[in-house]
Amino acid sequence: MVHHPTDDLLRVDDLSVEFRTANGVARVVDSVAFSVPRGGALGIVGESGSGKSMTSLAIMGLLPKGGSASGSIRFDGQDLLSVRGNAMRRIRGDRIAMIFQDPLSSLNPYYTVGVQIAEAYRSHRTGVSRKQAKRVAIEAMERVHIHDAARRADHYPHQFSGGMRQRIMIAMALSMEPDLIIADEPTTALDVTVQAQILDLLAEIRRDTGAGLILITHDLAVVSEVADRIVVMRGGRLVEEGAVEDVFSDPQHEYTRRLLDAVPRIDDRIGELRTTAIPVVTEKEKR
Ligand SMILES: Nc1ncnc2c1ncn2[C@@H]1O[C@H](COP(=O)(O)OP(=O)(O)O)[C@@H](O)[C@H]1O
Ligand SMILES: [Mg+2]
Repeated sequence: MVHHPTDDLLRVDDLSVEFRTANGVARVVDSVAFSVPRGGALGIVGESGSGKSMTSLAIMGLLPKGGSASGSIRFDGQDLLSVRGNAMRRIRGDRIAMIFQDPLSSLNPYYTVGVQIAEAYRSHRTGVSRKQAKRVAIEAMERVHIHDAARRADHYPHQFSGGMRQRIMIAMALSMEPDLIIADEPTTALDVTVQAQILDLLAEIRRDTGAGLILITHDLAVVSEVADRIVVMRGGRLVEEGAVEDVFSDPQHEYTRRLLDAVPRIDDRIGELRTTAIPVVTEKEKR
């Protein structure tokens, strides 16, 4: 029998991230704690610079140079902060997949998208032929509703729109059958209609695959669409945590209230939000 110490897929405790800089140590994430149950969806919300991306990069073991994480990050019972090198590379991609704001910077302009999905898949699966991997790539593209996937697989990134490129990144993540998907501002670069389509897709994937999801955004409306729980971050700290309905109907902190004030009324039809969503702050930075 497989024994899990907790029901949580991911449990983050007392996580801090520090950078050594010329002016001393900057603590950009300060003792945050949250968890994601198996198949659950957590939204991490906060203005630009609040430490959302650094939190997710710490989970992935991908902090930029000079950054270090402390505390505990337990994924499926394993402490990720003590996993190094190849073992972490296997977890990343294979079990935890990440989707970023700007799909173009994650795609290679010189290879077709089919080849890129297939090669990413092959790099995590031993003994898979190119032909088999190509089939996986096309299936993954079909799952994210790219029409005529077999033909589109032979196209290059620049031949796709921003929304389609984000679908391709999601297809790449899905092909690995991850247990957890971390999407960092996946819709920020997209126009509102396309945003709604990508959020629908993420919600659908979560339903159909049972994968856990962390959705990071500066836009509270985005979270209400997909997540069950929400943590609000400010200046590296966690200021509020709770079920999405509770945080929306009864925010405990002034900061959360201000974020909510920028969102249209949500009372009963939260789903309608997505078509009227306006960003809380404009976030131009890449991650
Ligand atoms: N390489 C770095 N060195 C030092 N500080 C950094 C570095 N990268 C980001 N930061 C700082 O960390 C803080 C949190 O950044 P980030 O997690 O990217 O915020 P968010 O994703 O919420 O917009 C910001 O104040 C940012 O300036
Ligand atoms: Mg960010």
